[in-house]
Amino acid sequence: MTESVLPLVVQCCEMPTDEIRAAHVQGKIRLRVWKPGPSDHLCANRAWVLEQVPGASAILCVLNVKMDSEIMDAAGPSLRVVSTMSVGFDHIDLEAAKARHVRVGHTPSVLNDAVADLTLLLMLMITRRAMESARVGFTGPSLHGKTIGLIGFGGIAQTLVTKLQAFHPGRILYKTSAPKPFDLKNPAFSFLAADPLFSSYIQVHGSPPVPVENEPDLHTLAAESDIVVVLANLSASTHHVVDAAFLEKMKPSAYLVNVSRGGLVDTAALIHALHADQIAGAALDVVEGEPNIPADHGLLAPELADKVVLLSHIASGTIETRHAMASLCARNGLGALGLLADGSEMPAEVQT
Ligand code: DGY
Repeated sequence: MTESVLPLVVQCCEMPTDEIRAAHVQGKIRLRVWKPGPSDHLCANRAWVLEQVPGASAILCVLNVKMDSEIMDAAGPSLRVVSTMSVGFDHIDLEAAKARHVRVGHTPSVLNDAVADLTLLLMLMITRRAMESARVGFTGPSLHGKTIGLIGFGGIAQTLVTKLQAFHPGRILYKTSAPKPFDLKNPAFSFLAADPLFSSYIQVHGSPPVPVENEPDLHTLAAESDIVVVLANLSASTHHVVDAAFLEKMKPSAYLVNVSRGGLVDTAALIHALHADQIAGAALDVVEGEPNIPADHGLLAPELADKVVLLSHIASGTIETRHAMASLCARNGLGALGLLADGSEMPAEVQT
């Protein structure tokens, strides 16, 4: 193939994508990669993307730039796939992609362990008052015997359940978009079924070591949980699923943990609930408006310093996980172009 007819791949972030480099070296693709200068963000800004995508067949992206009709139109009719190095795809306009026959790839499953681990870190940091205790030294509630309420019950939530067993909570409640009673034979619970310890315990004893129960009513889950963990995708139907009414239902001793997307929690309502002692604390890896969190943000108010743990969206940030995500992102892009060495398709496509 002559150089100009090779499919163009635009990679918006420095990613450890061996597959893309190999395809480039083997002369299967043209490649444009964002190269940050010393004061640049690790990932390309919107202006760079708009400038580079004309004629692109594949865009490999992360969360920071909205992949909308403007970018897809700038790429033009050659665009076949937008592949994100994230499990969440709320930054991709699926309607726009569908209308232009553009396929969408994401990176589920490979980050379940890393995100579940960080969720446990946040649960322990907020309940054991880690920030405050680093300064003074305090006691906080144990996870033992507590009710953990999970909003969303996909791969990350199920992986968290397997890890939580070691902390002996009293019970685990979960809420899914459509009520799904706990049943390991249902493919919706395949992540739990795939865990050898969890599934063999159920085979021997007939039930999990800690009760796992579907709670279809969101406000009942709020009222009964000692820790609510937000683990759902962000969409129009889950935006502000944790709102003022939800927070009012929570116990004053309860905690909120969010590792999904900031938009699932109404930040203003959360700040109010923390000031009003409606809940005991919040541990957040994600916040609405991130990464632009000004120093005078309400969650950083000095009065809330001992009630808030705020991390900077690092849940999937283990070296191994980021490599696996980059590889899956690359294989989604190459698979959509029919360029995977084994001739296989996109391994993880979002249904648009
Ligand atoms: C994801 O994969 O959606 C994470 O939030 C990005 O780190």
